Amino acid sequence: MVVSIFEACALLQSGQPVALPTETVYGLAAPVQHLAAIEKVFALKGRPKNNPLIVHLASKEGLHEYVTCTSSILNELTDAFWPGPLTLVLQANDKVPNVVRCDLPTVAFRVPDHPLTQQIIERVGPLVMPSANLSGRPSATQAEHVLKDFGSAVPVVDGGACSKGLESTILMENEGEWVILREGAISAESIAFVLGCLPRFVSGKGTDRPLCPGQLYRHYAPNAKLILNEQRLAGGNVLGFAGREYGGESVYILGGVDSPEEVAKNLYACLRRLDDDGVSEVWVDMDFPAGGLWTAIRNRLEKAAGVE
Ligand code: TXA
Ligand code: MG
Repeated sequence: MVVSIFEACALLQSGQPVALPTETVYGLAAPVQHLAAIEKVFALKGRPKNNPLIVHLASKEGLHEYVTCTSSILNELTDAFWPGPLTLVLQANDKVPNVVRCDLPTVAFRVPDHPLTQQIIERVGPLVMPSANLSGRPSATQAEHVLKDFGSAVPVVDGGACSKGLESTILMENEGEWVILREGAISAESIAFVLGCLPRFVSGKGTDRPLCPGQLYRHYAPNAKLILNEQRLAGGNVLGFAGREYGGESVYILGGVDSPEEVAKNLYACLRRLDDDGVSEVWVDMDFPAGGLWTAIRNRLEKAAGVE
């Protein structure tokens, strides 16, 4: 069911999770202090209980309620990227409940850049918002994706297609070094303009207690088996780029290889379309550039294929 922002505010205050648009992906929202609503978010998604949630604020001033330590770099990061798709993992006080942070001393924060959701946060207060998809499945970048995953169990505010199409980049200061815990809609190269050096990506590989608990789980996966390769080894379905000659059964176009923004925006809708069409196997054209937004696109395809 599609609801207005006024209905969404009333539902959230009564403890009913509502899916809201952001510039990255749709989020499944509950008020930070409404513990019963947050439990419902975990249950609806089938989300593991040890995977913490991001707290979404209306503005950077909202951080002061939860975070005492500030630094000039932190200010520069929030000035440069908020509102926007950068999530910062920071030491936080105990005003953030345990069910949100999963007993960690840190909490993840971001200020989403979508006018409807900003108005809702201003009225209702800070919201937790994991991506509004069933755990493990491709994220939702349109209201209809949310309705497909949750049916009548989750009301949704329709804010159109998400402009970025990939989740926020997660950045944390760890032992004096700013590191990326999830590649996302803001590239490491853009963050380097503020930090003065390129932040390293720290993967959860080889540990059962990664800095980012979400790294333990499979993500973004359609039912279709994705075969990632720069070259096509056989016929069959293709997930590839505009302007290239593929032939084959069905060709799913991510966008132009000269526009990572377009590819990012279309990625999850394309993965979902494979399932709608009952595709069981697809070759993914991995012949695309490295760096910038392409790093996150490659990461999502590898995760979706189960090779990362
Ligand atoms: O773009 C986004 O960030 C979207 C939109 C809706 O805002 N939200 C989103 O939430 O992607 P979710 O729950 O799907 O992913 C949050 C990630 C998880 O991998 C989680 O483990 C990590 O953030 N995370 C949350 N709190 C953390 C913390 N204190 N330390 C390290 N990682 C944390
Ligand atoms: Mg997610």
